[in-house]
Amino acid sequence: MRTVDLIRKKRGGGSLTAGELSFLIEGYCQGDIPDYQMSAWAMAVFFRGMTAEETAELTLAMARSGDQVDLSSIRGIKVDKHSTGGVGDKTTLIVAPLVAACGIPVAKMSGRGLGHTGGTIDKLESMAGFRTELSREQFFAQVNDIGIAVIGQSGNITPADKKLYALRDVTATVESIPLIASSVMSKKIAAGADAIVLDVKTGSGAFMKSLEESEALAAAMVEIGSQVGRQTAALISDMDQPLGYAIGNALEVEEAIAVLQGQGPRDLLELCLALSAHMVVLGGQADNLEAAEKLLRAKLESGAALEKFRAFVAAQGGDPAVADNPGLLSKAPEIINVTAQQDGFVQQIDAEQLGLAAMLLGAGRAAKEDEIDHAVGLMLKRKVGDSVKTGDTIAQLHARDRSPSVSEVAQRVLAAYTIGGQDQPTRKPLLLSVVTSDGIKRSEA
Ligand code: URA
Repeated sequence: MRTVDLIRKKRGGGSLTAGELSFLIEGYCQGDIPDYQMSAWAMAVFFRGMTAEETAELTLAMARSGDQVDLSSIRGIKVDKHSTGGVGDKTTLIVAPLVAACGIPVAKMSGRGLGHTGGTIDKLESMAGFRTELSREQFFAQVNDIGIAVIGQSGNITPADKKLYALRDVTATVESIPLIASSVMSKKIAAGADAIVLDVKTGSGAFMKSLEESEALAAAMVEIGSQVGRQTAALISDMDQPLGYAIGNALEVEEAIAVLQGQGPRDLLELCLALSAHMVVLGGQADNLEAAEKLLRAKLESGAALEKFRAFVAAQGGDPAVADNPGLLSKAPEIINVTAQQDGFVQQIDAEQLGLAAMLLGAGRAAKEDEIDHAVGLMLKRKVGDSVKTGDTIAQLHARDRSPSVSEVAQRVLAAYTIGGQDQPTRKPLLLSVVTSDGIKRSEA
């Protein structure tokens, strides 16, 4: 087999076989196929696309390229959740203990944040003492013991995806639906999930800016799941503005705890309930979504979900008292108000800009090796549809100091808000579409 022939075949619109895709992925990982040939192939895929079978075979070849976690020693159906990355997305902190309280084993590997999006592992580490590195044995034992463990990605999961993603990043081939779908699903499959619930974000703060593109990506991932025998459902949720009000690690943990306490922002609760309901159905703990939601609400109201969070924090070395007293989380020394310069309604919020603003305060990383400051971030005081008067605080910066660079961040936050008009803008639903193997179902407007 010659790589040049496979590139030519794809360039001409042909489909590669499972054997040909394995040859490419294995050869690339071993260094036998150079970057220039792999980028030519990725560009051919970008223009020609891939069939569903090809996408599934590529996914499996990437999943096989490194460690494959065997979760079979954990009892029950393991349902994983994945978000394509948003601003203020702290859903895992709520969903994981909530579904664990319903009897779904949560054996989750999560990532760190990069750029304008945050990562669950950084958020968890804002609780003093919380350990995100456990040995495989400790990880399995904790899930069998208390039903939940969340750790950072360890070992050598999907090295082919790491290498290919880095190459795509510099060859303008990231934005290809089969390549994104296989990249995401290969990691989930290698991490051992029996079933997968995807939270695909759409809008200004997301990777996919339009609903149609997001649905196409979701459908491609659900199709991979069907092809490889892992039931998959995808929810498409709005990321035209941040989720909830908090952006930044300790601030987001505090907001997640508020939801588990039965308080917290409605949009965040709504999305967590929707994601969790799909997980509970796929995990066999309810027959349908209505029954699942009823069970989930009962676990929130009884305090069982918060109790699961306490057990989870304690098991991984944190102080469980944080669940009742988020004041124990680290706090930034300075709080700086950003105030409206005119009257009107908040028409739009540029989520990506707010994510970048939080990153500039130190809550996120511009480069992989950057250190982050868990205490800093943003608390929004107004969201789309809210009315404001000149001088009202629309957001607060939680900052380390009051340096000129922090003032620049305040300007950036102000610029991310579009305020004006006499008429209240119509609020878009948060949940826009659900994609399952039965097809795409849009929410009613
Ligand atoms: N996220 C991934 O994991 N892979 C992609 O290709 C794009 C986004």
